[in-house]
Amino acid sequence: MKSNYAPLSKPTIVFHWLAGLFFLTVLGLGLYMGELPKGPAKFEIMDWHKSLGFAFLFLALARVVWRLYEGHLPSLSESHTWQDTLAKGIHVMLLLATVMMPVSGMMMSIGGGHGLDFFGAILVEGGEKIDWLGGLGHEVHEIGANLVILALLLHIAGALKHQFKNKDGLLSRMLGR
Ligand code: HEM
Ligand code: HEM
Repeated sequence: MKSNYAPLSKPTIVFHWLAGLFFLTVLGLGLYMGELPKGPAKFEIMDWHKSLGFAFLFLALARVVWRLYEGHLPSLSESHTWQDTLAKGIHVMLLLATVMMPVSGMMMSIGGGHGLDFFGAILVEGGEKIDWLGGLGHEVHEIGANLVILALLLHIAGALKHQFKNKDGLLSRMLGR
């Protein structure tokens, strides 16, 4: 299906799918790890979660810089509807979450005295607990995870409604068509 709307730039499309997939992977690992009982399997998944989450931060920051440089996506209509405003708000929330989730995770790990490592390479040595840092990181990470899941459900439902109910090709424009 061809889109009814102004096209999106190549970097916007590449960043969206690359960061989206990466983010969903780290989110999925986080949720899975939360369900596992304490033991070697949980710690192995946690290592992957933390290292991939840390690497993701750089992609998220590059994407935010691109968004700031380029501005909001071209609007869907001249008359700004409440759906437009909601979609924009959710986009901003998702962009913020892609930075806040890794940052709060790092705060939790460092504040908890575990330091920070990237697939075994030590970036911040573990040591003393810093209670306020660990506590704040934990709150933001947990509340953030729930909010981001809600935002993503609305985001994906909105995209699918446009594409398949309104048949306006909104998803197509994010696929470069
Ligand atoms: C299967 C999953 C997804 C679908 C179908 C989807 C669909 C879309 C579509 C169609 C747009 C363009 C809206 C427009 O043209 O006005 C969009 C934009 C956007 N999406 Fe998604 N999306 C998905 C996953 C994600 C994920 C996981 C994130 C966050 C990590 C995300 C964050 C964003 C953001 C921030 C925008 C605004 C443009 C930008 O800055 O990249 N999306 N999405
Ligand atoms: C894209 C980035 C990230 C996302 C989406 C994410 C998401 C999640 C989710 C969904 C959970 C499970 C929450 C729960 O059910 O209690 C979790 C837990 C956790 N995450 Fe992340 N995370 C990210 C990055 C990081 C990073 C970079 C670190 C540390 C370096 C980290 C450290 C942790 C830790 C230690 C837990 C376990 C918390 C607990 O035991 O209560 N996360 N994360």
